Amino acid sequence: MAVIEVVKYPAPILRQKAKPLTSLTEAENILIKDMIETMYFNNGVGLAATQVGIDRRIIVLNDTQKKGDELVIINPKIVHVGGRVTGQEGCLSVPGVSRELRRANALRIEGLNMEGKEIRLDVKGLTARIIQHEIDHLDGILFVDRLPFFQRRKVLAELKKRCG
Ligand code: CO
Repeated sequence: MAVIEVVKYPAPILRQKAKPLTSLTEAENILIKDMIETMYFNNGVGLAATQVGIDRRIIVLNDTQKKGDELVIINPKIVHVGGRVTGQEGCLSVPGVSRELRRANALRIEGLNMEGKEIRLDVKGLTARIIQHEIDHLDGILFVDRLPFFQRRKVLAELKKRCG
């Protein structure tokens, strides 16, 4: 397994809509394991493939930070949302920025697991927040894009100054 460098704002791939995964061979298996390793190395709770420069719809997450508890979802799709809740959010691709953000509190997710089997999950709270954040990455959306207008403008101006 290997740790991959996490792509940082304003890299163009972070704005790309990732393509569905259509095959699950040894190469994809290695990629997913490397994504998990990369997430732990950076003390992250979630990671999307686009954040390691791969244009495919794969997310990994671990809301407990305990090794072995990771969840892998390939081609994740939100099929139901419920409730709204505000919580703190940050992103490995947008270092140094953390903001309160409103998200759905509960989700039903469909997708494939690491073995390529169809899965359906009902999640809420932090897990639901992480999944929404990571699926956003697959659609080229960063959490700062979801901030209220003036907050977003301020954060993007700060980032522009810092990251060019
Ligand atoms: Co992120």
